[in-house]
Amino acid sequence: MSLLRPIALGIETSCDDTACAVLDGDGCVLSSVVSSQLEAHRPFGGVVPEIASREHLRNWPAVSETALEQAGLELGDVDLVAVTKGPGLIGSLLVGLSLGKAIAYALGSRFHAVHHLEGHLYSPFLGSSGEKAERPPEAFIGLVVSGGHTSLIQVDGGETKTLAETRDDAMGEVFDKVGKRLGLPYPQGPLVDELADSGNGGDFRLSIARCSDGSLDFSYSGLKSQTLVEIQKLESAGVNTHLGEPAAAADVPSPILDLLAGFRTAAVGQLVDRLDRLRKQRPVRYLAVSGGVAANRLLRPRLETWARENEVDLRLVSLRYSGDNAAMIAHAALLRDRRGLVDDPLAADAASRIPF
Ligand code: KG4
Ligand code: ZN
Repeated sequence: MSLLRPIALGIETSCDDTACAVLDGDGCVLSSVVSSQLEAHRPFGGVVPEIASREHLRNWPAVSETALEQAGLELGDVDLVAVTKGPGLIGSLLVGLSLGKAIAYALGSRFHAVHHLEGHLYSPFLGSSGEKAERPPEAFIGLVVSGGHTSLIQVDGGETKTLAETRDDAMGEVFDKVGKRLGLPYPQGPLVDELADSGNGGDFRLSIARCSDGSLDFSYSGLKSQTLVEIQKLESAGVNTHLGEPAAAADVPSPILDLLAGFRTAAVGQLVDRLDRLRKQRPVRYLAVSGGVAANRLLRPRLETWARENEVDLRLVSLRYSGDNAAMIAHAALLRDRRGLVDDPLAADAASRIPF
């Protein structure tokens, strides 16, 4: 088989997913394996850092073997190793980074320590079914919406500049916290989204926060507090607010469904508000949207409509690569590699917080 080099091996262990992917030099995803640790963390209602680190160590051999097998390759075929250096849980990051460093050193391959956000940022350009990655435009606006970030990023010739970020909670984090208050199992975001589909948000018009200094920064803690207060009011009025699992929409009191729909509308509305205001400040030709929350069932059609109405070329990450995965890390590394960048595996370090 003739392969387009370099063959990139991606490793992503920043939180609770152990992920490994193999991409060819065109950015075709030859394999992308994500092993979830859900069952290990579920009894605790959230991710337990030490458990996550130990699970990464336990899962890595099977995950990497499967990724190579699915790609039809062997470790010796790898030309480039790409690992997430942060931000994330430090123990989890150190497991992935140490594995990547050791592999790159042993193979004598090129090495890239990638910022997690950079992985998400370029993920909308990955082909959803193994086709080659689209070449990102020279200049575009990235919107990364995840459990840790809500960021608007300007990309110009490979240089990035953060235009706005959240001043408090990230959008996904707020979905998780609202769901947790309702007793939903971890991860709560997708479940809140699903329940919101069955509600009528018109009864709960929650406000869209704006910064008083005119900045485009996001803020989600006010929306979270408003929603928690409304849940408390419903509870005081005798509505059952402890949904437990599984919470099928038919079993959930309708005022809760309506509240979740109102919450989701306001959360997505804030993104659209910032995009509208950004467009008033500067032309927006391309918008690339990524991150776990980009799977949201309201966000996707709303942004598609917004882009159509405003003649913006939209790249919405495919559902395969919206959540954390290693294909996006390998892809970002291939783009760095093309620009002549490379890292020293012996010098690379992980950090739980790193500015972008
Ligand atoms: O990108 P990601 O997998 O990890 C981080 O980098 O944070 O994003 C995970 C976040 C979680 O907060 C999860 O609840 C949220 O994305 N999420 C969603 C949906 N799917 C995942 N939030 C709202 N609606 C969804 N459909
Ligand atoms: Zn992420």
